[in-house]
Amino acid sequence: MERWKFFDITHREHVFCNPISEEKINHIIGLLHLQPGQRVLDLATGKGEFVLRLAEKYKVAGYAVDLSPYFIEDANKKFSQRSPQPNIQFVLEEGKAFVERTTEKFDLVSCLGASWIFGNHEKTLAALSERVVPGGWIVVGEPYWRISPPRDYLEAIGEPVEQFATHYENMKIGERLGLTSFYSVCSSQDDWDVYEGLQVYAAESYAASNPEDPDLENLLERVRNAHDAYLRWGRDILGWAVYIFRRF
Ligand SMILES: C[S@@+](CC[C@H](N)C(=O)[O-])C[C@H]1O[C@@H](n2cnc3c(N)ncnc32)[C@H](O)[C@@H]1O
Repeated sequence: MERWKFFDITHREHVFCNPISEEKINHIIGLLHLQPGQRVLDLATGKGEFVLRLAEKYKVAGYAVDLSPYFIEDANKKFSQRSPQPNIQFVLEEGKAFVERTTEKFDLVSCLGASWIFGNHEKTLAALSERVVPGGWIVVGEPYWRISPPRDYLEAIGEPVEQFATHYENMKIGERLGLTSFYSVCSSQDDWDVYEGLQVYAAESYAASNPEDPDLENLLERVRNAHDAYLRWGRDILGWAVYIFRRF
């Protein structure tokens, strides 16, 4: 099944495609204290809700980049329904390629939940810190190990243990790169349950309405296996947090 179709179907009920509540996102946005006209870049923007709220609150301008044609279409649709329309341009492009070709430095660069674009958390922070002005904000969302993961769980999610660090290490990685750690917000178990559960809900709803889709078997198998691994292990093992740094 095509990658972007899979994510489009499984995230149809999500506003934010990450395990974090709207309340926490609004709390984070409230702490960023940007000025009108300042420039922002949101990588792997998903449906664009974070950057749209940021632009609406602070009247900032900039780019939001994602590789999924479905999500960019959703983001543009939302954008056209907002009034007044924020000064944000949605770009369908690979995130690392965008960062490598842009020469602009931004007042804020964010990447919530897609550090694989650069390889891992450390490489993401290093790449983002090249693209902020002195004093600029770097906001990233990243998983962390709550406890040491068993091999069965790593096999189920297809990740090596080195892919993620602990919550403490995620902050220290930024500090070792010369960034100042300002704040972090962790997802609660409830946030995770909503994020994971809505994927099952969306996939089962799609299956009920589209019984002829040849991708159904693959879709349901992947979603049910992933949810099984979440309930069996992930719920107790994997955390997720948004980290706010500044580069002076
Ligand atoms: C976990 S979602 C996060 C979306 C958004 N930041 C949010 O919090 O709602 C990951 C996003 O990364 C996008 N993505 C995956 N690989 C990408 C790449 N190489 N370049 C740009 N975007 C990518 C996906 O389409 C998806 O929107």
